[in-house]
Amino acid sequence: MEGFILVKQGAEARLYQGTYLGRPVIVKERFVKNYRHKHLDDTLTKERMKSETKAIVRCKSVGIPTPMIFLVDFNRRMIFMEHLMHSMVLKDYIEQTPLDILFQLSILIGVTLGKMHEGNIIHGDLTSSNMLLVNKHNKDEFLDLNELKLVLIDFGLAHVDPSAEDKGVDLYVLERALLSTHAITEKIFPKIMEGYQESYSTGYKEVFAKYKEVRARGRKRTMIG
Ligand SMILES: Nc1ncnc2c1ncn2[C@@H]1O[C@H](COP(=O)(O)OP(=O)(O)OP(=O)(O)O)[C@@H](O)[C@H]1O
Ligand SMILES: [Mg+2]
Repeated sequence: MEGFILVKQGAEARLYQGTYLGRPVIVKERFVKNYRHKHLDDTLTKERMKSETKAIVRCKSVGIPTPMIFLVDFNRRMIFMEHLMHSMVLKDYIEQTPLDILFQLSILIGVTLGKMHEGNIIHGDLTSSNMLLVNKHNKDEFLDLNELKLVLIDFGLAHVDPSAEDKGVDLYVLERALLSTHAITEKIFPKIMEGYQESYSTGYKEVFAKYKEVRARGRKRTMIG
């Protein structure tokens, strides 16, 4: 990866930054895991890469902002995507932003997820690390929500499913992830649900019922140990 800089080494993937065809890109490489049987590892990696690409394309078609994909290279196990330069990960944003702005932002998160689920896209790994706030005017300013776009990333576990069950689980996964990361979760999660209901009015009732069901099961499991 000449000319590319390693920016993140995760458990599943390495992220590099560099340029491709004159544009700033992030390259996500799902490296070989030697402890896994080679054939299984290849198959799993290819599945993840396909899921990620398919979901991103489908998001575009229903109007959910995601990074543009420039190249999918199965041999090198790499996806070349648009590097969202003037961005901040939601995880950091939540920790440094006043509550009144977070309330408005939570509505926007809910509206976005509602639209995504209306399009039957299940993200599979909703966390505050997998959402970016991007300044629409290429500035590093993040206080005015009107200037920001919420962009979803990291679709390696995504799939298409019309069922309320998977959508409910998606919301539950998000709630758990937020609870384990942000003290403010109990204040903002209801606002996320409010936005969700607003944008996905036809599916909300059924999805919310499933979410509560999954949540109750989760609780029970926690109580048993
Ligand atoms: N297209 C992009 N533009 C700008 N930053 C990005 C982009 N893609 C990823 N990032 C940054 O890199 C981080 C990790 O990316 P991603 O979530 O795709 O990989 P990951 O291996 O699943 O990491 P994690 O375990 O943190 O979720 C993101 O949280 C974000 O800060
Ligand atoms: Mg991630």
